[in-house]
Amino acid sequence: MEGEALSALCTPALVVDVDKVKRNAERMIKRCQNLGVQLRPHMKTHKTLECADIMTGGSRRCIVVSTLAEACFYADHGFDDILYAYSLPFDKVERCAALSERLDLFQVLLDHPHALEQLKKRPLRDGRLWHVWLKLDCGNGRAGVLHSEPEALRLAQAIAETEGVELTGVYAHCGNTYNCRGVEKIQAVAQETTDLTLQFMEKLKVVGITCKSSIGSTPSCSYPVKDMAQLSEVHPGNYAFYDVQQSVIGSCSLEDVAVRVLTRVIGHCPHRNQLLIDCGWCGLSLDGAGKLPTGYAVIEGHPNLKLLSMTQEHGRVEPISGLLDYSKYPLGSLLTLIPYHSCATAAMHPVYHVHSEGRLLGKWTPTRGW
Ligand SMILES: Cc1ncc(COP(=O)(O)O)c(C=O)c1O
Repeated sequence: MEGEALSALCTPALVVDVDKVKRNAERMIKRCQNLGVQLRPHMKTHKTLECADIMTGGSRRCIVVSTLAEACFYADHGFDDILYAYSLPFDKVERCAALSERLDLFQVLLDHPHALEQLKKRPLRDGRLWHVWLKLDCGNGRAGVLHSEPEALRLAQAIAETEGVELTGVYAHCGNTYNCRGVEKIQAVAQETTDLTLQFMEKLKVVGITCKSSIGSTPSCSYPVKDMAQLSEVHPGNYAFYDVQQSVIGSCSLEDVAVRVLTRVIGHCPHRNQLLIDCGWCGLSLDGAGKLPTGYAVIEGHPNLKLLSMTQEHGRVEPISGLLDYSKYPLGSLLTLIPYHSCATAAMHPVYHVHSEGRLLGKWTPTRGW
C-alpha cells in the first residue's frame, strides 16, 4: 500500500502523520536542551520502536515505560536505560530481576516498604544493584507516597540504606496538570510540583542522600517553568501524538495532533437525523466520555457534526444544529476523527498506518499487554 492515498485503507484505521510526530518530538528535545534538563520520554502512548527512535533522537537510551511488556519489548530491540515507572507490582519482581540482570540499566519505582522487602528477598546476581526510584505524590492523588508524610523520607532512607539497592531518584508525575485550562494554570501546577520535589530533595540532602529527580507530564513539559531546570530529568510522553484533550488543556494546538481515526459512513438514518459510521469504541475508546461539544472526538472539517454515541463497532453522528444534508455524506465516504485521548485510542489498534502528507509510508506495530 506504500505510496497510496489514505482512502485506500480499510476502516476504522489509525493513521499517524509522521511529519507531525517528528516535529512534536524535535520541539520537546529542543525545549529540554534549552532548559538544560534531561528528557526521558515515556513510551506509553504509542508503544512502538519507530516512534521511540524518533523521541530518543535515535539514541535508544533513557526511556520510561508503563508496563513490563513495553520494557521487555524495548530491551529485546536494543534499548537500554529503561525506567519502569509503575509502583513495583509484587507479581512481577522476578521479571524485573531478569531485566536488571540483563540490561546495563533497568530501573524500577516503588512507593511502599513492602515493595522494598520484595527486592531484598531477590538480590540480583553478579553484584548488580536494584536501581530504585521513589514515587512521590506531589498533589496528583494517584500512586506515590505523599511528599509531606514523614513516611516519604523514611522510605527514601530505607531504600538508600538497603544492601544491594540504590536510591536512583525521586519521581513525581504531575498528572494534575490535566485538570488545568490554559498555560498559566499548567505552569502553576508545574511550579508547585517542581517546588515540592526540590524541597524533598533538600530534605534528603540534610540526611546525606543525593539522587536524581524527575517530574513531568505533557502539559507541564510543553510549557515548562524555568525552575524545572533544577531537576535531573522530565518524563512526558503523550506529546509525540498530542490529542484533542491536550488542545483543550492548552498544551498544543489542534494542528499539532499527529493521529486520526479514519472511518466510513455506513448508514443514513433520516428518521433520527443521524449518520452511522464504522467506528465504535473498539476503534476510538470511550475516553473523554463524550464531554466535548462535538461528542467523543472532533470530526475534522465538519464543525457542525457531533459523534454522539458509540457501541462496539458503530458510531452515531448527528448535526449540532439543523438537519443533515445526506448528499454531503454519501455511503462509503470517509470521515476523519481527531481523538480525545490518543493514548486510549492508540491502545485500541493493532497497527498504525503511517503517512506523510496523506501518502502511506508503512505500518508501525505496537506492543501490547502487561
Ligand atoms: C507515571 C507516569 N509518568 C509519565 C507519564 C507521561 O505523561 P503524559 O502522558 O502527560 O505525557 C504518565 C502518563 O500517564 C505517567 O502515568
